[in-house]
Amino acid sequence: MENKNINEIYSLAMNEIQQSEDTNKLQELKIKFLAKKSVLSSLMSELANLPPEERKEFGKNLNDVRNRISEELAKKEAELRKNELDKKLKSETIDITLPSRKVELGGQNPFYVVKDEITDIFLNMGFEVADGPEVETDLFNFELLNIPKDHPARDMQDTFYISDNVLLRTHTSPVQAHVMQEANGKPIRIICPGKTYRRDDDDATHSHQFAQIEGLVIDKNINIGHLKATLELFAKKMFGEKREIRLRPSYFPFTEPSVEVDITCANCGGKGCSMCKGTGYIEILGGGMVHPNVLKMNGYDPDEYSGFAFGIGIERVAILRFGIDDIRRFYQNDVRFLHQYRRKA
Ligand code: PHE
Repeated sequence: MENKNINEIYSLAMNEIQQSEDTNKLQELKIKFLAKKSVLSSLMSELANLPPEERKEFGKNLNDVRNRISEELAKKEAELRKNELDKKLKSETIDITLPSRKVELGGQNPFYVVKDEITDIFLNMGFEVADGPEVETDLFNFELLNIPKDHPARDMQDTFYISDNVLLRTHTSPVQAHVMQEANGKPIRIICPGKTYRRDDDDATHSHQFAQIEGLVIDKNINIGHLKATLELFAKKMFGEKREIRLRPSYFPFTEPSVEVDITCANCGGKGCSMCKGTGYIEILGGGMVHPNVLKMNGYDPDEYSGFAFGIGIERVAILRFGIDDIRRFYQNDVRFLHQYRRKA
């Protein structure tokens, strides 16, 4: 009678295990059939009431069934877990046959295109890139460049003052003084691209914020021929091999002699047109031989060392290079303007 009972429990258990659809259900069955208060355990307590000759076999059957149910539970659990994993993997697969979304390539602002090109040209000539603060002291922006407090050259370089002695730099030239002081009398060959500021009313050709690339070379026996050759190479690389340059005498307090550098007009090739206002030339930068006072103030003996410096307006070069009509376009973030410089995918 008890054996029959065992067999019934066994088939019931097998049936219910087979029909379980998830691991939670299996957990319930485990409790129902194998736990302390399960039917099988209660049969176990009946063992003592049986005649001794039946006990052995009953006990063995009971154990067998227990083991088989337990095995079946484990098997089913593994099966269900595998199914659950398969289902999860399936629902998470990526359909690699779908066409990809089109990646829109952005465009570089032409300002940065030109800044990088100028930088590359000078790097190829052996210059290194130096850096300096945009928030400067009066000392570095003016004094150490031979522009004392009452110097009229300051009028053209009014700027944004943070305090009497701290201001937004009006040119990248203060980096000359920084680099000289840090170089401790060693030869120098650097450029410094960076932002500059002036108190200007914005219009097509003026902006209160603009950018320059400073150049500085200091060594023994540097002469104006080096300056001319360097800038000629720059002009040809930037604007084309046919371009000629012209040096015109000019004035900067920190260079002596000082020059403005013009290139032949791309539009007319030097004959004279409306773009170059009939002169055949377009001004692109200022430069000169580093003033002995500047050398002295920044740690170089002018009897032993000489050097040249120049400052290129980045927007000005970009305007000429791309035929841009208004300096404000570089800063307005108008996508119609920027799209014209988008790289093709
Ligand atoms: N700093 C000058 C300017 O902003 C340009 C310049 C640089 C001139 C270096 C001479 C030497 O106008």
